[in-house]
Formats: sequence, structure tokens, C-alpha cells
Amino acid sequence: MKEIIDVELKTRRVDFNECKTDLLAVGMFSDVKGFDKLNGELNRRLGGSVEQLIKLGDFKGKEGTSAVIYGNDRIGAKRVLLVGLGERGKARLDTVRKAAANAAKKSVEMKVETISLALHRAFGGRFDLSAMGRAIAEGTYFGSYRYDEFVTGDENGRLDTLVVELIDSDLAKTRELNKGLLSGAIIGKAQSYVRTLSNRPANVINPEMLASEARKIARNSGRLSCTVFDEKQMSAKGMGGVLAVGSGSANKPRFIVLKYSASGKAARGLPAVGLVGKAITFDSGGISIKRASKMDQMKLDKTGGIAVLATLKAVAELKLPVNVYGIIPAAENMPSGTSYRPGDIVTTFSGKTVEVLSTDAEGRMILCDALAYAAKQNCDIIIDIATLTGACMVALGRYMAGLMGNDEKLIRQLQSAADESGEKVWLMPSGDEYAEEMKSKIADLKNVGSEWGGACTGAAFLGKFVGGKRWAHLDIAGVDILEKATEYTTEGSSGFGVRLLTSYLINLAGKKK
Ligand code: BES
Ligand code: MN
Ligand code: ZN
Repeated sequence: MKEIIDVELKTRRVDFNECKTDLLAVGMFSDVKGFDKLNGELNRRLGGSVEQLIKLGDFKGKEGTSAVIYGNDRIGAKRVLLVGLGERGKARLDTVRKAAANAAKKSVEMKVETISLALHRAFGGRFDLSAMGRAIAEGTYFGSYRYDEFVTGDENGRLDTLVVELIDSDLAKTRELNKGLLSGAIIGKAQSYVRTLSNRPANVINPEMLASEARKIARNSGRLSCTVFDEKQMSAKGMGGVLAVGSGSANKPRFIVLKYSASGKAARGLPAVGLVGKAITFDSGGISIKRASKMDQMKLDKTGGIAVLATLKAVAELKLPVNVYGIIPAAENMPSGTSYRPGDIVTTFSGKTVEVLSTDAEGRMILCDALAYAAKQNCDIIIDIATLTGACMVALGRYMAGLMGNDEKLIRQLQSAADESGEKVWLMPSGDEYAEEMKSKIADLKNVGSEWGGACTGAAFLGKFVGGKRWAHLDIAGVDILEKATEYTTEGSSGFGVRLLTSYLINLAGKKK
């Protein structure tokens, strides 16, 4: 199997025009007339070709666009990449992240090995340099990613490593950029790790494989511990939900718990956060089988769980002063003679009973055990992330995750983490009316509500298992996959969640420092 393209990140103090590099990337807004100092000087040295490109209308600075100009003996760079930043007034931190992703993607396509990014320059003092360093680092991972582990042919060749340097002529500035770069590289790498594991198909990854990934992560870190329950242990604990969903598959279910404890005083008094992620390694629907079209995409039904795994890995590498549990119920949802069936009544870890109306509503069946487990571990805050409902995708499309929960402050914190990380969320309801629909006549709950508002009733069901803890739910069904490549990255798993959850935890840690 091929290794995924690696990214090597660093900062360098160097004069922009002298910078010897395969490619120098600079940003330009669509509505700023004239050049800033850097672009003006580049234009002069390139004999006015930047100006010409713009005059001809070949580059307008629109977001998601770019143009290459070839260098000459008056500048150090072999190529200059102009990257569009869109309207200046609309710029957010994600604008520079996307610009970096765009530049990294182009570079991989052109097989350019070393790139120098001066993308932060156009933003002036708008965002702090460390935040930009982080966003740019995350963006280069995102943009350079492609999933080709199983492609044995190598007709055109491709890079093993993309070397990226963030450059500035001012040492104080490169130092600030570097601060953010260090965390951005950890987060970006964690996101690529999610994409790779998620992209791996169900004949390669099953619940036990996920468990061994979790053990591996814990082994490589001093601050993480990992516990895995097999079927017997789950059965002793009464985890009826996970067991029911896993019962139809030859690949047995696992219940994975990672625990990160911060060292020293810093984390004392901080709330313990439980991250819960749905890991269905394949969702056929079970006996309530799905239709064949696009069923292959259901290999991505493990993305929430993997996002949790990778977030714990990132948190440990960042050495954040927080206490975090990663709780990942993992199962494969398959139809067979041993499967759970519509009509079954399942006793879950919480003691609550659930009438199964569809075996395809399996996410909530495994999550209810995991949420109740998190509450039992005394997590003060619980956040779950799951490819839970097609209904969420109908409601929000492929741009934002659904956000539900029972605590306004937690919701606000997740909204700002979304804004910073560029992984967008949209608040949706999940209150009493929706919970009412999930009541069963012959058990405590049923696993399907009425025809309408499926994302909300799904969330309301989950809310019944958090034991009164502060809780939020992220439905990532619409955003876990990119069906087509964009200017910023290739198709397949998007790796959604790591940036969002890590941002939330970084902020939480920061407040206590
Ligand atoms: N994994 C699916 C949700 C999903 C659908 C994710 C499409 C990504 C793309 C989930 O397990 C599921 O099947 N949900 C059902 C719930 C229903 C039976 C209440 C759905 O959305 O149809
Ligand atoms: Mn399903
Ligand atoms: Zn599912």
C-alpha cells in the first residue's frame, strides 16, 4: 500500500522577491484596486505580467481561483501563484485556510515539491499571525490530500512529500506564524488521518481494526489510555444497543474508550469532556436494507468515530490542559440470520428499552449505549458526532453539519469553534415535541419517529441518554463526504470534525490558563 502524501511544514525569514523556491503563493482580493507592496514589487520584477493578467481578465481574485506566472532571473521563485481571496470585507480565517488548500492542491497537481506561502500578507493585521499560521498549515494538509493507497499503477508519478514554508521578511512575524503552524500541523495531520481511515473500505477496516488503531494511538502517547470491550464484556455490561447492531455481521462489534488526562494543575477544575463518535464500519441498513444506489458511500458511516479517535490523538500531541474521553462504539450493520430485526425490543446500557422499527436507524442504537456510558463516567459535557440521518442532509445540504443540544453555552462555544475552524454548523431543534415522537407503546422508546424532521427526532432520541449532562450533537451525514473534487481538495472523505472539536477544546483549555 502506498503512503498518503506527507506534508512538511516550516517557517523561514526571507525576502519575498529573493526567495528561492519552486513556487511562491501570494493572495489577492477581488475588490482591492491596485497592488499592495508585495504584489506591486512582484509585478515590477515580472515585467508587469501580473497587471497584464488582470487586465486581460484572466484572473479576478475570486475565491477558489488562481493563476500561475513563471519567474525570471529577477525573482527567486520559479513560479508565482496568485490565489484569489474573494471580497476583502467577507474575509474570514477560513479564507486563508482555503487559499492555502488551493495552493497546495495546485502544487500537488503540478508536482511542485517545495512551495513558499506568503498568503498571510494580504490580510494585514486583520487576524493574528499565529491564528493564520495554524489555518494555513491546516489548509496545506487539506489541499494536498489524495487517497491513493490502493492505486498500484503510477503512470505520472506523484510527490511523496510536499514541503511547505510560510515566509516573511520579518523575523518577529515568522515566529508568530510558527506558533500557529505547530498546532496547525498536528490538526491538519489528524484530519488527513481521519480521511484515510474513513476512505478505507469495509473489507479493510472493521470494528476490531478501529480498536487496534485506538490502541496504537494510545501506545504512542504518554497521556492516553485505551480500553476496548469485546462482545463478552459488552454483554456483561448490558450494552444491548451495540450488540444488537453488531449481531448480523461476522465482524464483531467493539466498544472503544480512549482517555486523555492532562498533567498537573492546569486541568484541575476543568470539566471532563466526553466525545462520542458513531463508528459503523459499513451501514447496509441491516434487515431494513438500503437501496443499492450509492450504498458504497456507507463505508463512510464510521467517520464520526474516527473523528473522535483523531481528536484525542491531536489533543494528546497538543498537550492541552483538558480532560477528555473518546468513546467510540463500533459495529458493522449487516443483514443475516443472526441480525437484529424490526420489532425487536432491546435493553440498552442505560436500562431504557428501545423498540426497533428500522434496523437502518442503527446509529442511535449504538450511540445510546455510548452516551449513557459517558454520563456514567461523569463527563460534565458530552458531544457526539455522527453520520446520523439522511434527513439532516435534506435539511442542510452538503455545506454544514446539524447542531442540536440541551445547553445554550455549549452550543455557542461550538458555533464559534465552527467559525474559527471553517467546519460549519447550523443550529436545529430537538426539544420536547420531537422527543414525544420517539415514545413507544410497548417499550420506553422507539428508534424511528414520524415521517418528518428526522434529524431532529434522531437527536431527541439521543438526548434521552445523556443523564442530564450538558450535551450537544453534531449530525455530519451531509458533510462527511465530498462527492466531487473542489478547488480545495479531492473527492471522498472530508475528514469533518477534527478541526471543529479541536478548536472547541483549545478554547476550553485557553479559558482556564
Ligand atoms: N448512516 C445513515 C445516515 C446517512 C444517510 C448518512 C445518508 C450519510 C448519508 C443512518 O444510519 C441511517 O440510515 N439513517 C436513517 C434513519 C431512519 C431509518 C430513521 C435515514 O436517514 O434514513
Ligand atoms: Mn443506517
Ligand atoms: Zn448509519
